[in-house]
Amino acid sequence: MALERYSLKLPRAVLGGEDALGRIPEILARAGAEKVGAFTDKGLVKLGLFGLVERQLAASGLSWEVFDDLPAEPTYTDVQKVVDRFRASGADFIVACGGGSVMDAAKLASVLLTDEYGVKELLDDPLRAQKRASLLAIPTTAGTGAECTPNAIVGVPERKLKIGIVNDALISDYVILDVEMIRNLPRPIAAATGVDALCHAIECFTSNKANPMSDSFALEAFDLIMNSIERACDDPAALGEKNRMQLAAFYGGVAITASGTTGVHALSYPLGGMYHIAHGVSNAMLLVPVMEFNEPACRARFARAWDRAYHGGERLATDEEKSRALVAWMGRIVEHLGIPTSLTGFGVSRGDLDDLVDASMQVTRLLVNNMREITADDARAIYERIM
Ligand SMILES: NC(=O)c1ccc[n+]([C@@H]2O[C@H](COP(=O)([O-])OP(=O)(O)OC[C@H]3O[C@@H](n4cnc5c(N)ncnc54)[C@H](O)[C@@H]3O)[C@@H](O)[C@H]2O)c1
Ligand SMILES: [Zn+2]
Repeated sequence: MALERYSLKLPRAVLGGEDALGRIPEILARAGAEKVGAFTDKGLVKLGLFGLVERQLAASGLSWEVFDDLPAEPTYTDVQKVVDRFRASGADFIVACGGGSVMDAAKLASVLLTDEYGVKELLDDPLRAQKRASLLAIPTTAGTGAECTPNAIVGVPERKLKIGIVNDALISDYVILDVEMIRNLPRPIAAATGVDALCHAIECFTSNKANPMSDSFALEAFDLIMNSIERACDDPAALGEKNRMQLAAFYGGVAITASGTTGVHALSYPLGGMYHIAHGVSNAMLLVPVMEFNEPACRARFARAWDRAYHGGERLATDEEKSRALVAWMGRIVEHLGIPTSLTGFGVSRGDLDDLVDASMQVTRLLVNNMREITADDARAIYERIM
């Protein structure tokens, strides 16, 4: 019997727990940084969250320059503009404080201190990317897992898609998980980004690329999220649950690195690319329809996920019962969190279905991971369910 192959690639150091942000000066000193390029967004500056990071940059005694003019879910040209300014700054170390949008732009900056290629060239040939500056990622959502994945996702308007640039050089060098960064996350953002992490966990666990290494991280992430997400979103004081969401989002990112997402993410990218629906929101809409479609092919794995995450008193006997109960449970969570479950209100009309289906069929990188083949007709039927 051939042994299953796997590989695990991780940041060099992950620091969390009490006063994790206080470790920034030590990281910068050890890395020999001279000038920091600090990536964030204007909302986080206004909220004072970036200020917590800036205080540590000041304590490090280094100079820094702030790059905060990036829109949420940026296009590749948005990212290139910020990167051009970053290159002119002379900074040699990057600190990214933000959600997936900020972290992905910063990750691209870390491989773009060069004249040889820009973001556009990396879209065509991601393997050209080589790390030129070390990067510390501090996520403020929980989350994309972008703090540890080799992916950077940018909008490509001319292809009506969001596209993931994937290269191991995009894995952050250092990660800080500090619960202060998500303590006051507004409920709608906590809910959508939390469901994104849930999708990472269950998709990676039921991916054709799943393997023993990704399974460990995906199952742990899944258990943590299914049992923490509602309180983490509902109760501002639930720091324990918020901390578990932060860990789970990271584990979900590790699972992506070792495995890969599947149908939900594949069908979600056109909704982000064409209608600018937030990544977590489009995933939340698609989660249950895609999981119901996948259920016959993923039954044994869904039953395993149920056994791992369900800690209540109900006893289910068969894989089929567990698998169905699991999908229904995910549905109740999405409903409880109040994330929109339909495209109504996002300007999508039935006349757009052909374009959506065509765009989704281009996401072959993820479609091949889905255990049940998704044809164009299947994709259309799934989109119709959320019209
Ligand atoms: N690289 C990867 O592996 C990966 C994985 C999944 C998604 N993504 C990408 O990440 C992006 C989405 O990232 P996201 O979901 O983290 O959201 P985001 O970074 O787009 O942020 C959404 C909004 O939330 C605000 N925000 C962030 N943290 C906050 C906080 N603590 N308090 C208050 N407001 C806060 C931001 O200012 C912004 O307005 C998409 O582009 C998606 O495609 C990347
Ligand atoms: Zn995602």
